[in-house]
Parts: sequence; structure tokens; C-alpha cells
Amino acid sequence: MLNFEFQNPTKIIFGKNQISKLSSEIPDGAKVLMVYGGGSIKRNGIYEQVMAALKEYKVTEFGGVSANPEYEVLLKALKIIKDDEVDFILAVGGGSVIDGVKFLSGAATYAGDEPWDLLAKGIRTYKGLPFGTVLTLPATGSEMNSGAVITRAETKEKRVMGGPGLFPQFSMLDPQVIQSIPKRQIANGLVDSFSHVIEQYMTYPVAARLQDRIAESVMQTLIETAPKIMKDPGNYEAASDFMWSCTMALNGLLRVGTPNDWSTHMIAHELTALYGIDHARTLAIIHPSHLRFNLEDKMEKLAQYGERVWGIIEGSIEEKAKKAIEKTEEYFHSLEIDTRLSDYTNDYEGTAKIIKQRFEERGWQELGERQSITPEVVEKIVEMSY
Ligand code: NZQ
Ligand code: ZN
Repeated sequence: MLNFEFQNPTKIIFGKNQISKLSSEIPDGAKVLMVYGGGSIKRNGIYEQVMAALKEYKVTEFGGVSANPEYEVLLKALKIIKDDEVDFILAVGGGSVIDGVKFLSGAATYAGDEPWDLLAKGIRTYKGLPFGTVLTLPATGSEMNSGAVITRAETKEKRVMGGPGLFPQFSMLDPQVIQSIPKRQIANGLVDSFSHVIEQYMTYPVAARLQDRIAESVMQTLIETAPKIMKDPGNYEAASDFMWSCTMALNGLLRVGTPNDWSTHMIAHELTALYGIDHARTLAIIHPSHLRFNLEDKMEKLAQYGERVWGIIEGSIEEKAKKAIEKTEEYFHSLEIDTRLSDYTNDYEGTAKIIKQRFEERGWQELGERQSITPEVVEKIVEMSY
């Protein structure tokens, strides 16, 4: 196992009707900015629950944060925070709203002139404006981590930011919110969370047996839960397993003491930036070719995953590893998620070159657990995914 430090300060409040406890988590007298997305919370009853719980506070609402939260929109919320001297932000939504609020938390305390620098220059936030979340869509794990992904439509960029000051103070996880989520978004959550485990697990063995087994358990639980929650989002037991698996997949616990490879996510973000494809679907496009291209480097872990998660017991290590990639692709297909770029756009020629150039410009020369994912390799992986 590699050396590590681990600290995750987010308080999780999980279960039925927990949103009513909001007032015990937000400081008395706080001026609250409540941030939400395109309006689903006004149709499924979550808005009423939140506002009832906040009745003692001075609350300003900011709606309209889109999927893949947009920088220009967030700047309007930042102005409200500064003009109204807001001292607590509440995110009510999925990963996009929560990430948008993380940006606001960092930008509100950032002394520089250009908040985009937090993303473009990778400036970390050590102390942000306090915020909490009410999670409405399990997928990203953003409710219990300190990362955010922000999009800038003007330049077709999607960049990441983070820092220890960007953990939510608390997150409310009520599995009942899943009832109203469209199937497409549930499928996205099942793939995004699965992908988060792959990124932290599918590298090379370092005798981190506990982390391996926790990762395998999260993947097995997602696979077992997928057909149940796709069939009936109102199934509370399945919803609970789904929600907690998504949080566990990216709250930092799987990552500790192990090599990681986040290059699939970094490549996939470019596909959303260029074509607007849902985050999870871009991962489903890149993962199979990424794993095939890097078969040699990832073979041992792929075979272990094949054996333990998919029950593949026949064949050599290489055969098991290859079969495991097929199984992964089948899992995506079972959720009606396509795995080729050409399934999503006819305009894919040249994509690999654009992404290669972008990685070169940013100096991303050595991604992956062995620093072997160069811009040239990225180009090949994207071509393989056409
Ligand atoms: O905007 P509203 O109207 O609320 O509708 C949303 C949105 O259209 C809808 N939705 C959410 N909860 C619902 C609901 N509809 C009905 N009932 C509910 N209870 O779902 C749609 C998608 O929401 P969004 O927040 O965009 O989805 P997701 O949670 O998948 O977040 C995706 C974003 O998170 C980033 C992605 O890149 C993407 O921008 N990620 C963030 C990560 C992190 N911070 O750790 C890690 C991930 O890898 C990911 O990159
Ligand atoms: Zn993701």
C-alpha cells in the first residue's frame, strides 16, 4: 500500500425525510443563497421541503444552473453573493448544481480578478464560503468530495477545480428523491459511479487489499441494483443502495494508498465540451477503448476485477482481462447507453486531433498511473472510440 493522508469532513445525513433537519445544520441567522437547477425541484416536492425547513432564514433563490454548469450563469450568482453579503450557500440538485456551488464557494473567497483562473490555473481553494447540499440525483459523488467541474460555453471548455476548502459541510441524502428522476439520468448515475471506481481501481496491484475489496463491493452493488432501480425508481431499498454506492464511489476512500488513473474522465470531459454529450455517456464511450489500449498495463487488475466482480473463472489472465472489458461494455449497453462516439454525433472526424492539441496546450503529457498517457496516446484512444 502507498503512503496516504485522508480527511473528509462532510457530514452525511441519510434517509427518509431528513431534509426537514436542514435548520439544525445551517448557522442561526445566516443569509442563505439557495441554488438549484432547471426546475425539477419545483415539480417533485423537494423545493417545498427545503423552503419549509429554511423558514427561519433570510433566503435568496438562484435557479437556472444547467447540466454541466456554465461559468457565465454562475457569475450572476457570484454577484448576488457579494452584493447581498450571503454567508451560506445551499445547493439543491445533482452534481451540476453542487459543482456550481463549489465554484461559488471558491470564487467568493478568491482575491484575484478573474475567477476562471481557479480552473484554468488550477488554483486550489483552502477556505471557501461555507455550503451544504441536498442531493437530488446520485451519480457524481460531489456531495462528499472537494472537486468540481465547470463548463465555459464561450470557449467550449470543461475544466476541473478543487481544494480542501470545497468539501460540503453537510449533505442530505434522501433516497426518496430518486422517484422523480428520468430513466436516462438514473442510467447516467449507474455508469458515472461505476466509472469512478474504475478510475481508482484499474491500475496495477499495490497490495491494498481492503481498498480493492471495497471498490469491488461498490461495483457489485451497482450491478446488482441497476435492474431494480431502472425498473422502479420508487423502490426504496434499491434507491438507498444506489445512492450510497454513488457517494462511496467518489468520497476519497477508494483512492487512498493506491495509484489512480483519471485520464478517461479528462478525455471524456472534452467530448461533453465539444458535443454536449452527457458526462456518463462520454465515459462509456472512452472506457472500452482506453482499457483495450492499455490492456498490458492494467491486465492484472482487469483479470482480478473479471474474477471477483463478474465471476470469470475460465482462461488465462489475458483472456480474463479481455472478457472483463467486454462485460463492462455489456453493463453500459444493458442500461441503454451506447459506447461509440459515432452513436452520438456524425461530426466525429477530427475529434481525436482536437483533444490531443488541447492536452498538449495544457501540458498534460503524463497522465495515467504510469504517466504513459501522452497526448499521442489520447489521440489513439479517441480514434478507437469512433
Ligand atoms: O436541472 P434540473 O431541472 O434540476 O434537472 C436535472 C438535470 O436536468 C435532473 N434532475 C436532478 N435531480 C432530479 C432531476 N430530475 C428529476 N428528479 C430529480 N430528483 O437531472 C439532470 C442532470 O443533472 P446533473 O446535476 O447535471 O447530473 P449529474 O449529477 O450527473 O452531474 C453531472 C455533472 O457533474 C460533473 C459532470 O462533469 C457534470 O458536469 N461531475 C462532477 C464530479 C465531482 N464534482 O466530483 C465528478 C464527476 O466525474 C463529474 O465529472
Ligand atoms: Zn464522473
